[in-house]
Amino acid sequence: MSPPPEPAGAAGSPLLPLLAARIRAQGPLGLPEYMALCLGHPRHGYYATRDPLGRDFVTAPEISQVFGELVGLWLVERWQALGSPARFRLVELGPGRGTLMADALRAARLVPAFGEAARLHLVESSPLLRRSQEAALAPLLPAGRSARWHESIETLPEGDAKGGPLLLVANEFFDALPIRQYQRTEQGWAERQIGLAEDGRTLAWGLGPALPEAALPGLPAAEPGELAELGLAGRRLAATLARQLAGEGPGPIPKGGGWALILDYGYAPSRTGDTFQALQDGRPADPLAAPGRADLTAHVDFAALAAAAEAEGAAARGPVEQGAFLEALGLAQRIEALSRAAAREQAEALAAGARRLAAPEAMGRLFKALALGPAGAPAPPGFASA
Ligand SMILES: C[S@@+](CC[C@H](N)C(=O)[O-])C[C@H]1O[C@@H](n2cnc3c(N)ncnc32)[C@H](O)[C@@H]1O
Repeated sequence: MSPPPEPAGAAGSPLLPLLAARIRAQGPLGLPEYMALCLGHPRHGYYATRDPLGRDFVTAPEISQVFGELVGLWLVERWQALGSPARFRLVELGPGRGTLMADALRAARLVPAFGEAARLHLVESSPLLRRSQEAALAPLLPAGRSARWHESIETLPEGDAKGGPLLLVANEFFDALPIRQYQRTEQGWAERQIGLAEDGRTLAWGLGPALPEAALPGLPAAEPGELAELGLAGRRLAATLARQLAGEGPGPIPKGGGWALILDYGYAPSRTGDTFQALQDGRPADPLAAPGRADLTAHVDFAALAAAAEAEGAAARGPVEQGAFLEALGLAQRIEALSRAAAREQAEALAAGARRLAAPEAMGRLFKALALGPAGAPAPPGFASA
């Protein structure tokens, strides 16, 4: 007898039989478990098995060097606003190929003391991408220094005398963090879960039991049938960062303290809707069809991140639209300066990159920037209107 055919779209997904076996043994999966396994499984997870940048999606730093340069100058200005400490923790969450940080460090050479003071920490789960980051960043660090890698922010060194304040950047990191989805039913909210389809081998959506209203505070008002999302991992991360950034003690520059710049696609205020999405080979895909082979993300609820940070005593500025943020930091001027020394084709590519980053119909409106910092601190550059 020949084996049954592979389910459509699942060809080459070694994770599918593992997930099916787990569901048979333990029952349906919540979305956080599903996302964590699909993205982070050490052998078959999406990020463990490939470098998806340029293949499934292109991120802002890969579109234009100016993105990382402007972020670098923003970090230098924040370092100066903190009193130019002799040592600080420069952290990036999910650095991809290291392109953003490389462009940032190159731009920051305008102020050499910044690079001398920085101790670079990278939070990255993919061994493959860690290697790219090492290759991109090692030549830019002062002699004898190297970056340190972390699985999560939990292992970052403490601030104050040991590590100095924190300056952190995260571009397209929060969208990869697990969310839960709930559907409004006549009986209340019910969690969306992933179980097995009737064939017993492919995955299918289902609903858990209706939950008491008090179990889910903070979900938006909704009509039966509507979906709402809860990004608890993102909120917890924003709260953890906020506790460090808020610093301690009186004065304009608290001990510890620092700033975080979060850039991503998302929305504010919080609202209902299904933003869970899969990209496979550069195209939208069914998120349940080929686990581990597609990138899974959800739009970031910026209002929820800001609220989580403020609840821990930090200030949240923004979000502001990415287009407005980059323009305020000098996108047009930098493109003009680079174009003056460039051949015509290069100048056209620079202008096209800038349009892609900033135009409202491209990334300029959907992508947003949120800054977290010490309570009461004046708005940083790019956030003056927020
Ligand atoms: C969409 S890529 C963005 C890369 C880069 N920031 C850029 O803009 O090009 C997401 C990055 O976060 C990393 N990542 C995703 N989830 C992670 C997690 N839970 N812990 C650590 N790194 C993670 C990925 O390996 C990758 O480097």
